[in-house]
Amino acid sequence: MADLSTSYLGIELDNPIVVGSCSLSKKIDTIKQIEDAGAGALVLKSLFEEQVQLEQETLRQELERYQDLYAEAQSLFPALENSQPKEHLYWVERSKKAVSIPVIASLNAVFEPTWVQYARQLADTGVDALELNFYSLPLDPSQTSNDIEQRELDIFEKVRAAVKIPIAVKLHAHYTHVLNVAKAFDDRGANGVILFNRLFQPDIDIETEKESQAQVLSSGGGSSAALRWTALLHGQLKADIIASSGIASGNDAVKLLLAGATAVQVVSALYSKGIPHIDTMKQELSDWMGRKGYATLADFRGKVSKQNVADPWAFERAQYLKALLGFD
Ligand SMILES: Cc1cc2nc3c(=O)[nH]c(=O)nc-3n(C[C@H](O)[C@H](O)[C@H](O)COP(=O)(O)O)c2cc1C
Repeated sequence: MADLSTSYLGIELDNPIVVGSCSLSKKIDTIKQIEDAGAGALVLKSLFEEQVQLEQETLRQELERYQDLYAEAQSLFPALENSQPKEHLYWVERSKKAVSIPVIASLNAVFEPTWVQYARQLADTGVDALELNFYSLPLDPSQTSNDIEQRELDIFEKVRAAVKIPIAVKLHAHYTHVLNVAKAFDDRGANGVILFNRLFQPDIDIETEKESQAQVLSSGGGSSAALRWTALLHGQLKADIIASSGIASGNDAVKLLLAGATAVQVVSALYSKGIPHIDTMKQELSDWMGRKGYATLADFRGKVSKQNVADPWAFERAQYLKALLGFD
């Protein structure tokens, strides 16, 4: 196998195939399988503030029901609290101890103080890094995109000041100006940007005439959005660029590394092909490097980024025009 070592948020990894945040990391057994299959690192399932709130509310309602039934229950369990997020924190701590590959906690909170509080608690579990998943659906029409981005940056700055470990921000592809947003996080000390989160899409079942969920898993082939923005950002950030979405094979990973990513995150491919697929991806990447005569990832990383291609307009508007005019 070729030397696949790389940097991930400044942490040295054995290889660039990182398991992205998903439910595969919910069980310690699966986490061990992920390490055995040779993943470079693992991002744990996110701590969602809404879920904590929902569980607290359900518990409160349950307790109220018992109070109504048995008045004495109130005095029996006077200080009973929901264990969340303690339960999540305990599981993060156990996950970190279970394997020797870098383990990264992930957070999606709602309120600014909670972002900071949970980030600090996650960092205290001993994880190697923290990933901030800022996704939330904007529903207030009076709020501007600038308001939303500024709020994310403000939260980031507070978390950055509160936490010493490396921090990655997981972006989505729908910002008006992706380069500007990525640069703003970079300027504030982000150690990595993840391009991109794939948002769950709604659908409607025409038989039941009810809302349903569209395909949850991606189908591979690599995300063209991740490819474009990785190629445009390479060489412009101090932070590592991590590509995500639709990366299902070693060859998909090669494309994103050529565009300038230091690593890739994989999720759907592991649900559809199984955890041992990590090793297949590494082997494909290594075989390609052997065929091309590359000894390390640094030998070809960013070779097809905007910075390094002969045509300075590649990945930009001229490419779009060329595609449309060429098609005619
Ligand atoms: C079942 C499932 C659960 C997920 N849970 C999370 C999560 O908790 N936090 C998060 O940031 N992303 C989550 N994601 C998104 C993935 O981390 C990833 O960004 C997305 O699936 C795109 O990568 P892929 O095309 O390789 O699947 C989840 C995805 C799936 C399929």
